Amino acid sequence: MSKYWSKLAAGLEPYVPGEQPKDRKYIKLNTNENPYPPSPKVIDAIKAAVDENLKLYPDPNGVALKMTLANYYGLNQEQVFVGNGSDEVLAFSFMAFFDPNNPILFPDITYSFYPVYAKVFKIDYELVPLNDDFTIPIDKLLKDNGGVIIPNPNAPTGSFLTLEFIEEILSHNKEKVVIVDEAYVDFGGVSALTLIDKYPNLLVIQTLSKSRSLAGLRVGFAMGHEDLIKGLDTIKNSINSYTLDRLALIGAVEAIKDDEYFQDKKNRIISTREKATGQLSKMGFKIVPSKANFVFISHPTVKAEDLFIWLKEKSILVRYFRQPRIDNYLRVSIGSDEEMDTFIKALGSIIT
Ligand SMILES: Cc1ncc(COP(=O)(O)O)c(C=O)c1O
Repeated sequence: MSKYWSKLAAGLEPYVPGEQPKDRKYIKLNTNENPYPPSPKVIDAIKAAVDENLKLYPDPNGVALKMTLANYYGLNQEQVFVGNGSDEVLAFSFMAFFDPNNPILFPDITYSFYPVYAKVFKIDYELVPLNDDFTIPIDKLLKDNGGVIIPNPNAPTGSFLTLEFIEEILSHNKEKVVIVDEAYVDFGGVSALTLIDKYPNLLVIQTLSKSRSLAGLRVGFAMGHEDLIKGLDTIKNSINSYTLDRLALIGAVEAIKDDEYFQDKKNRIISTREKATGQLSKMGFKIVPSKANFVFISHPTVKAEDLFIWLKEKSILVRYFRQPRIDNYLRVSIGSDEEMDTFIKALGSIIT
């Protein structure tokens, strides 16, 4: 901090992303990245786009990408917003739809960026405590509020709410926006997208970072009623017209178009997750049922923090949150079959 900082900056507690260490080669099971590379068609398209056109600004509206997404999800272009990773889309959504002094609701154990956004935009919030099994107590999301945001599947637990529950939340909150953050939905969840026409207060946010292996390209998107999309455009165009660069726009279009590649890789991750879940439960781990590309696990005799430190020494990174209620859990991203075998073998030598 310095005397030159604004009061806002001085009072912030920023989000802390998972480690990206450079000191040696790790098996990275700590940031929910995809173990597989992006589609070769994405790489080819980006390479082909590295030319003198980079002197020109990109399309500020990302129309080609919006059209590709609209076509893929059966929407029209006016129902789609694109941004620099879903983190940016989330930040714009907080600004566009939530007001100070009218508390929004989100779970106590959830994506830790939500409280950070709430603080930076001065939006009051109320934490809804998850049940002991980490399921979301739906009834607590039905009271008056300034908006609701839930990831589905939730992070870092991986647990999933059925559409029936999402619809219950939507129908009780018609005056306010309900955001469903579907960063992990492709790994076995069901999207709330089908409810968009029925609920003009629903905003579904997704990303290319996880299921399409493009965390490094920074592309996220939102889908909802066109009035919500206009709200997001209003915020975006008041901050930065060109949030997605030329290469990101081109790569993202190819990623959505190459559906065969996408289906193959996400199905592989789902089957690796199921295999790892079986192996971990045989070792005595408690595992929250997951529909995401990670599992949230706890062992009855070996402390999560000890496991985290020990695995790191063995060059395997997982995520440990020193946070009430979950400080004896590890979040383990699903890697390739080989990476998961190494991880399970390493655990096998400490858990007997
Ligand atoms: C629940 C959830 N939402 C959103 C994001 C942001 O993803 P990105 O900004 O890479 O699209 C993450 C990233 O880990 C996440 O866990």
